[in-house]
Amino acid sequence: QAPVITIDGPSGCGKGTIAAMLAERLGWHLLDSGALYRGLGFAAASAGVDLDDGEALGRLAQGLDLTFSGQRLLLEGSDISADIRTETVAAAASRVARHARVRAAMLGWQRDAARPPGLVADGRDMGTVVFATAALKFYLDASLNERANRRYKQLNDKGVDANLADLVDDLRERDGRDQQRALSPLAAAGDAIVIDTTTMSVDAVFAQVMDAVRR
Ligand code: C5P
Repeated sequence: QAPVITIDGPSGCGKGTIAAMLAERLGWHLLDSGALYRGLGFAAASAGVDLDDGEALGRLAQGLDLTFSGQRLLLEGSDISADIRTETVAAAASRVARHARVRAAMLGWQRDAARPPGLVADGRDMGTVVFATAALKFYLDASLNERANRRYKQLNDKGVDANLADLVDDLRERDGRDQQRALSPLAAAGDAIVIDTTTMSVDAVFAQVMDAVRR
């Protein structure tokens, strides 16, 4: 099996940015596992499937035509990369992610991404469940306020109206759901390198990650 580096952490901790930088630097594949859960959340909402119905969601997940084209996510061939980045889809993703059948259906797709020369996988349970035997694992964290602030700036830069207090509430609710669920809850693997990025720049975090990669 190809080598895997995992990067987990809560929403807005910067793992997506760091994972993309690392994959680019190493020339490895990149797996944004959150995009898969977002894609399923989006598909379920579009098809009117109840987000509490694990059985129906599992069936939907199994038959879902969800593929990556580079970093674009395609649902039945159409590009949904922009559609899945809303807070509504993020909330739907964290609701569908609670179900055992959904997580089982996702497992194969995710493991298939571990191809030569290597894979950088970002998510919530990459180091604890999906790639538990990965040689190198990171867990990025940051305070709730800092993560909401980053998200606020990101939305502002895109010209999207956002309310900071609402973002804090959304993140807190989603974190709670991700941490407290029975299956694959958000947690650092015992052998993960934990980095608190609250007061760090992206470059400083990347430098620390590269330091560990070179060892
Ligand atoms: O990382 P991102 O914010 O795109 O993930 C959206 C949601 O998908 C998360 O809140 C989480 O509930 C779920 N997820 C998951 N396991 C992963 C990645 C994401 O349960 N490996």
